[in-house]
Amino acid sequence: MRPNLLILGGTTEATALAAKIAARSIDATLSFAGRVERPKPQPIPVRIGGFGGIDGLADFLTAQRITHLVDATHPFAAQMSRNAVAACATTGVPLVALTRPPWTPQPGDDWRRVPDIAGAVAALAGPPRRVMLAVGRMHLDAFAAQPQHFYLLRLVDPPARAIPLPDHHTLVSRGPFTEAGDRALMWQHRIDLAVSKNAGGTGARAKIDAARALGLPVLMIDRPTLLERHEVSTPDQVLDWLTHSGADLGV
Ligand SMILES: NC(=O)c1ccc[n+]([C@@H]2O[C@H](COP(=O)([O-])OP(=O)(O)OC[C@H]3O[C@@H](n4cnc5c(N)ncnc54)[C@H](OP(=O)(O)O)[C@@H]3O)[C@@H](O)[C@H]2O)c1
Repeated sequence: MRPNLLILGGTTEATALAAKIAARSIDATLSFAGRVERPKPQPIPVRIGGFGGIDGLADFLTAQRITHLVDATHPFAAQMSRNAVAACATTGVPLVALTRPPWTPQPGDDWRRVPDIAGAVAALAGPPRRVMLAVGRMHLDAFAAQPQHFYLLRLVDPPARAIPLPDHHTLVSRGPFTEAGDRALMWQHRIDLAVSKNAGGTGARAKIDAARALGLPVLMIDRPTLLERHEVSTPDQVLDWLTHSGADLGV
C-alpha cells in the first residue's frame, strides 16, 4: 500500500521527519496549529490551523485518504494528541507518536516538580524573585497571579498584546540556545529561579544545563498524562513502523 501520511507538527522532530519523508518521495502533509507567525519552510506540503476537534480530524483523515497519522506534536500539546488517539480509533487509521523522552534530573540539578502550570504559579507564592519563565506565550497570563517577581521571558514571536506582568523583560528568539549563552543570560539578569516545562530533547535544555551550572533551582512542570498509544523517539523508527504496518516505501 502506498502511504499518504499526516504529520502533526510544531516540533524539531516533526521537521526532521518531514525531511526524511521528502527524501523518499513519500506522500505526506505536515500540519501546524498556526501559533508561530513565520513557520520554517518545509520540504513537504503544509496545512495550517485546527481541524475542528475529534470529528474534524476524523473527517480530514477520511477526505484526504490519509493512511497513517504521525503525532509529532510537542509533549505538552495534550489536546491535539488526545484528539489524534480518538480520531484514529474512529477511522481505523494507524497512529504513531514521535516523541522525546522527558528529562531526568542529573547530579547537581535542584528541581522542584509541579504537575502543571497552575502548580508552577502556586509554587511562586512568596517574596519577590528573579525568574526565567520559559513556558511559551500561551501561559503567561496565569503568572499574573504572582506579580511580585521579575520575569525574564523568551518568546518565539514578539508579543501581540501587552504582557500582564508588571516587571518583565522579553527576548524574542527561536534559538538554538546553548548552555553558555543561557548561563550568561541568567547571570546578566541576576536570575535566581527558572521555570520550565519538561519538554525533553536537546532544543530547549540549554536553560536546564545553565541552571545546574549556576546552582539555581528549577520549577519543572511535569508532562500532561496521555492515553496509551504507540510511541517512538526517532524519525527512522517512524519509517520502520510504516514498513511494519504495511506501507510500501518504494525503496
Ligand atoms: N504546548 C507547548 O508547550 C508547545 C511548545 C512548542 C510547540 N508546540 C506546538 O504548538 C502547537 C500547538 O500547541 P498547543 O499546546 O496549543 O496544543 P493543544 O493545546 O494540544 O491544541 C489545541 C488545539 O490546537 C489545534 N492544534 C494543535 N496542534 C495542531 C497541529 N499540529 N495541527 C493542527 N491543529 C493543531 C487543535 O485544534 P482542533 O481541535 O481545532 O483540531 C487542538 O485541539 C502544536 O503543534 C505543538 O506541537 C507546543
